[in-house]
Amino acid sequence: MQLNYIANQSVPSASSQTIDVIDPSDGQAYDQIQRSVAADIDDAVGAARHALDSVWCKLSAAERGRLLMRLSLKITEHAQELADIEQRDCGKPTKQARADAAALARYFEFYAGACDKLHGQTIPYLDGYSVLTWREAHGVTGHIIPWNYPMQIFGRSVGGALAAGNVCVVKPAEDACLSLIRVAQLAAEVGFAPGVINMVTGYGHEVGAALARHRGIDHISFTGSPRVGTLIQQVAAERHCPVTLELGGKSPQIVFADADLDAALPAIINAIVQNAGQTCSAGSRLLVAQAIYEPLLARLGTAFENLRVGPAQLDLDVGPLIRRSQQQRVADFLDDAHAAGIPIVAEGKVVEQAPPSGFYQAPVLLRDVPVSHRVAQEEVFGPVLCALPFRDEDHAVELANATQFGLVAGVWSANGARQLRMARRLRSGQVFINNYGAGGGVELPFGGVKSSGHGREKGFEALFGFTTLKTVAIRHG
Ligand code: NAI
Ligand code: MG
Repeated sequence: MQLNYIANQSVPSASSQTIDVIDPSDGQAYDQIQRSVAADIDDAVGAARHALDSVWCKLSAAERGRLLMRLSLKITEHAQELADIEQRDCGKPTKQARADAAALARYFEFYAGACDKLHGQTIPYLDGYSVLTWREAHGVTGHIIPWNYPMQIFGRSVGGALAAGNVCVVKPAEDACLSLIRVAQLAAEVGFAPGVINMVTGYGHEVGAALARHRGIDHISFTGSPRVGTLIQQVAAERHCPVTLELGGKSPQIVFADADLDAALPAIINAIVQNAGQTCSAGSRLLVAQAIYEPLLARLGTAFENLRVGPAQLDLDVGPLIRRSQQQRVADFLDDAHAAGIPIVAEGKVVEQAPPSGFYQAPVLLRDVPVSHRVAQEEVFGPVLCALPFRDEDHAVELANATQFGLVAGVWSANGARQLRMARRLRSGQVFINNYGAGGGVELPFGGVKSSGHGREKGFEALFGFTTLKTVAIRHG
């Protein structure tokens, strides 16, 4: 049984209740986590506050950086163990689980180097004055992590927060806690003081909500659904607590007739099947110039038919979805698409070795999807790609911007002027030109516009969100 990790101690929840840990590859329970309650958050916030005031605030930025680097190296040493844990807990194919462990180490490496590079400014002001700014930590930061990339999202969120001088209370998703509990233990082993990183598991509407409304939390980072993002911002607003929200997307891949299709096709497929489509930056809409619509769909269709879905350990193209309700959610979208007469171009195959009790969904390529249909508007979070033709550049921009989301966009074209025009006109937080980084790029600021959220994580930019600015004006004559 897994326990919470508070002040470098493994502790049970005050509730004395647990939640089963499920392997999505066969749907079977194989462990339990704590079903924590508000009292556990009180303990974690208390431990974090104590750590901040007694130890963490006294470390120099360089010392903080060294600690983060030690954790990065420790994660690398334990990368296989962490990948194995995440593989079973989340149903990740081996390559994906290993990539996630490597990304976690890379986040801590990146933020280790950033600790002592973050500084304020001096500002010209009136005669006889000097003005300077300090970047100060918020204090105790709350991190509500989703289940699709536990290690990666922990890395970007907690790595950035620690680098900026904060301490952390982390609430992983109820479906995906095990790797993060282990990382918190590794952090203690490399010398993180008790209370700097605290891990409290449980249901979102119980312990996640308790974290979001806790008066001792000074900043909240949340990645997950728009519905929960709204709830969190509402409760945070009551005490004017800043929030960073990353709420997913419906990201378009826009392919012009002059695109290099040999380069584009593998990237387009990967961007929707990676992690079984459960990726916030999944390229889930394919907008194609009319002139190449049919030939491109023919090539993509063949590739989709060859995609294989099965247990995580077989390391096929696609693993299972995270849980039964997610499988049902994707099936509901496909039923709606079917009822609306939306044609299927091609589907992948679930292999025979896949246990029927696992949460499998074959990748599906849909064509001629009406832009207003919910499968083209909402985040499916499964391996479902919607293709739509466009007439010209204006039409491509109109379709690309026609959802509530704005996280990432991909543009495939050989025309440099068009690449830049598109990059300017697309309403999204990232634009990839002739490449597509679903989830990638530790160094690259990441976050959305519109319902995709606000604030930026990843890269150096994240440190501005994890700090507040103090202006000091001195009149010296
Ligand atoms: P969710 O938004 O409920 O879960 C994300 C995290 O929020 C989990 O840790 C959960 O325990 C926590 N949470 C849930 N309710 C909460 C509350 N009231 N207060 C505080 N924390 C709470 O997402 P869910 O239901 O697991 O997935 C539904 C859909 O959300 C997915 O199909 C997908 O479309 C989207 N999603 C997007 C993600 C992204 O990367 N942007 C990640 C996960 C889900
Ligand atoms: Mg699980």
